[in-house]
Amino acid sequence: MKFFIVEALKNFRTSGTVTPSSKHLVRTCLKKIDWNQTVFVLELGTGNGCITDEILKIGHGHVKVVSLEINEVFYNYSKEKYSGDKRLTMLNESAFKLREIVKNNNFGKPDIIISSLPLTLFKDEEIVELLEIVYDILDDKGTFIQYQYSPVTLKFIKKIFPKVKYELVLRNIPPAIVYRAHKS
Ligand SMILES: C[S@@+](CC[C@H](N)C(=O)[O-])C[C@H]1O[C@@H](n2cnc3c(N)ncnc32)[C@H](O)[C@@H]1O
Repeated sequence: MKFFIVEALKNFRTSGTVTPSSKHLVRTCLKKIDWNQTVFVLELGTGNGCITDEILKIGHGHVKVVSLEINEVFYNYSKEKYSGDKRLTMLNESAFKLREIVKNNNFGKPDIIISSLPLTLFKDEEIVELLEIVYDILDDKGTFIQYQYSPVTLKFIKKIFPKVKYELVLRNIPPAIVYRAHKS
């Protein structure tokens, strides 16, 4: 926890927080996932791996998880932590390169894209760019899950995804909103 706070404070513009997500927030993010229909989960913003941990804990033995982390310290920490788990591929890459990453690695279309990227710190055009990439690479029956600490990004998600639901999580510092968006 101390390690996360120090690194997040040093890089506030990319971390967008000083504390990792609470168990309640992580569980709310993941609770609607139908694991019987989920083969490939793509995570954006590993951090200290609090969401990754839970995905690997509750996902099937055959679930494939790819997690992107732009911060080298968080990336190295998670790469080491999960080195024994063959289901997970850690990449020290930016989410803005997702189209190339998915294509070049033949990853296929994710059933779930789960993002904790701090969209509110992005420029408007960056939010739109990222959401368009997410929409394009997501499986047609897939779900995009994103949490945020403010409702301002809802209008952007709604412009790209026809179906968006949201849920407030008070038991997190700060309280958060979990968005679940579908292509159809
Ligand atoms: C709010 S923290 C969330 C960390 C953790 N998943 C959690 O829920 O506590 C956001 C994370 O996204 C990472 N990040 C920010 N911009 C990114 C980008 N363009 N591509 C990949 N990771 C990024 C940050 O370094 C940080 O670890």
